[in-house]
Amino acid sequence: MKYKSNLIALLIAGTFFSASAQQQEVIVVNAAKSEGKISPTMWGVFFEDINMGADGGIYAEMVKNRSFEFLKPMMGWSVKGDKIREGDLLVLNRQDAHLANPRFLRASIKDAAKGQAGLTNEGFKGGMGIKKDLEYEFSLMYRQQNPGITLHVELVDEQNNVLGAGVLKPADVSGKWAKQEVNFRATSAAVKAKFNIWFEGNGVLDMDMISLFPADTWKGRKKGMRADMIQMLADMKPGFIRFPGGCIVEGIDLANRYQWKKTIGPIEDRQLIMNRWNVEFAHRPSPDYFQTFGLGFFEYFQLAEDIGAEPLPILNCGMACQYNTAELVPLDQLDPYIQDALDLIEFANGDASSEWGKVRVSMGHAEPFNLKYLGVGNENWGPQYIERAKAFQKAIKAKYPKINLIYSSGTDPDSERFHFLDKELRTIGADIIDEHYYRSPEWFLKNASRYDSYDRKGAKVFAGEYAAHIDGKTVGSNRNVWQAAIAEAAFMTGLERNAAVVNMASYAPLFANTEGWQWAPDLIWVDNLSVYGTPNYYIQKLFSINKGTQATSALAGGQALSGQQGLYASAVLNDLNNEVIVKMVNTNETEQTRQVAFEGIKKLATDGSLTIVKGNLRDRNTMENPSVIVPVESILKLKGKNAIIKLPANSFVMLKVKYK
Ligand code: AHR
Repeated sequence: MKYKSNLIALLIAGTFFSASAQQQEVIVVNAAKSEGKISPTMWGVFFEDINMGADGGIYAEMVKNRSFEFLKPMMGWSVKGDKIREGDLLVLNRQDAHLANPRFLRASIKDAAKGQAGLTNEGFKGGMGIKKDLEYEFSLMYRQQNPGITLHVELVDEQNNVLGAGVLKPADVSGKWAKQEVNFRATSAAVKAKFNIWFEGNGVLDMDMISLFPADTWKGRKKGMRADMIQMLADMKPGFIRFPGGCIVEGIDLANRYQWKKTIGPIEDRQLIMNRWNVEFAHRPSPDYFQTFGLGFFEYFQLAEDIGAEPLPILNCGMACQYNTAELVPLDQLDPYIQDALDLIEFANGDASSEWGKVRVSMGHAEPFNLKYLGVGNENWGPQYIERAKAFQKAIKAKYPKINLIYSSGTDPDSERFHFLDKELRTIGADIIDEHYYRSPEWFLKNASRYDSYDRKGAKVFAGEYAAHIDGKTVGSNRNVWQAAIAEAAFMTGLERNAAVVNMASYAPLFANTEGWQWAPDLIWVDNLSVYGTPNYYIQKLFSINKGTQATSALAGGQALSGQQGLYASAVLNDLNNEVIVKMVNTNETEQTRQVAFEGIKKLATDGSLTIVKGNLRDRNTMENPSVIVPVESILKLKGKNAIIKLPANSFVMLKVKYK
């Protein structure tokens, strides 16, 4: 049988190649030879509040510093109008009564008409993106000290033209904190609008949580997420979503670490902290970058559910970032950290009779979130990490043996540090080991065979953060060139081929604001109104939506294709829809032609679908021209069980064929 199909392959190939070269030129995809099951979690996304990913990003709040809790309480705000005198606007502190959200603004207004006394909020990076005909919801918390002030709110463009306006007359006169909102419609659009609040009348009003949201949030949820950004994730059909990072899990010091319990419940009770990316890079200062936690753990779980991804939270393991303070919790004081992990599992999976399950239910999600994966630490290393990992492992496995625990192997996938951690983690019986690589395109090409020799038994691999970084002279979105994406594609064929070992992979970071980024390259770039996918995005998406269920052998000359003649290949079967999918990468500067010969399949369709992504190595997508590098699909006629494929110079090529 094998001989026969090889013979046919040879005959067809003969029209293209000499018989002696044939062994090298045919890629034999043998559907009967499984390389392992593809985990449903194989391709996922990594989300961190970096580059304005959450605040100023997917979290659709448009007001910057809504609760006056930034280091400088009036950052983002300016005072307007000649009826405001010294002392009329005061930031006050009620720390004793409200530790999580102590500051508020008191406005004492005398005889002001609209336009004479007010405040402007500048929005996040570069202003607020306003859409014509869209509703905006203005809300605030207030307390009437002396009733008599009416609020006139308006959005204005850079020339001060009014784009939309509303009026809110605070109703509650009890002298207690109350909430109120008003909706208004924008009649024109602007990319960089500002938000004015004018005080009219006489009175004294305390204000907090001054907020503006668009109505077109993801799934129309009130105070929800930016739909265009989330749609980009949903389109990828990710197998998992890792959150909330990244380094923000660790914090600069332990006080600055991510604490999930402080990110749930009423948003006014979620205690803001400085985002560590605020000060991380001297060359990319972001003094207005804070975490309000309006997007917290409940919303992350909900997002995972919405996009059909497994939730994958990463928790602090009692170690702050080792590039910063490296602050460490002594082992005998680690219990609260471990308890946080146990409580998180209960929050996600427990029923209403459990302490933390009850909290989730009270937030509106009666069903469990079905948490199956949990990360212990982000990029931690050293013997201290192993000691802490062991303590987490013991406690979590004792109570929740089915939760898959993910452990860090540090920052450098080739170092002594890595080998130490890898060995130790395998010794303690780690379920999954998280490897990170931000490396050159050359590294990715060379490492496409990295997992060919990994032990098939024992710990699985999570390629938890990776991106090809071209030379350091290029900055920002210029780094998302085709050269990087094609190297990642080549590497990903190696991940797919080794699905028996690699169960999860995610590019990082995910989002970046063109005017507010700290780290590049990134998968998806946004401004106030628009979003575009990088070439890297299209590669991630193609792998993810064509992940299949079974890795199958794809050999050239009896060997996995992993760089020979600049070619890389992997193949999968999708037994849910009877499809065989071959992914190939040509990193040569010239076109190459290959025959793909299918074996171990009874019958193939006569037509396949061919998807090609190609370009010059320095090509990239931009906000103005987002489709320079995008997949192009066509139909390919097969000849029996063979396909002749032209692989353009520097291309990713995917062939999908139905089988019986
Ligand atoms: O993705 C950016 C950063 O890279 C992450 O926060 C961290 O885990 C890694 O060092």
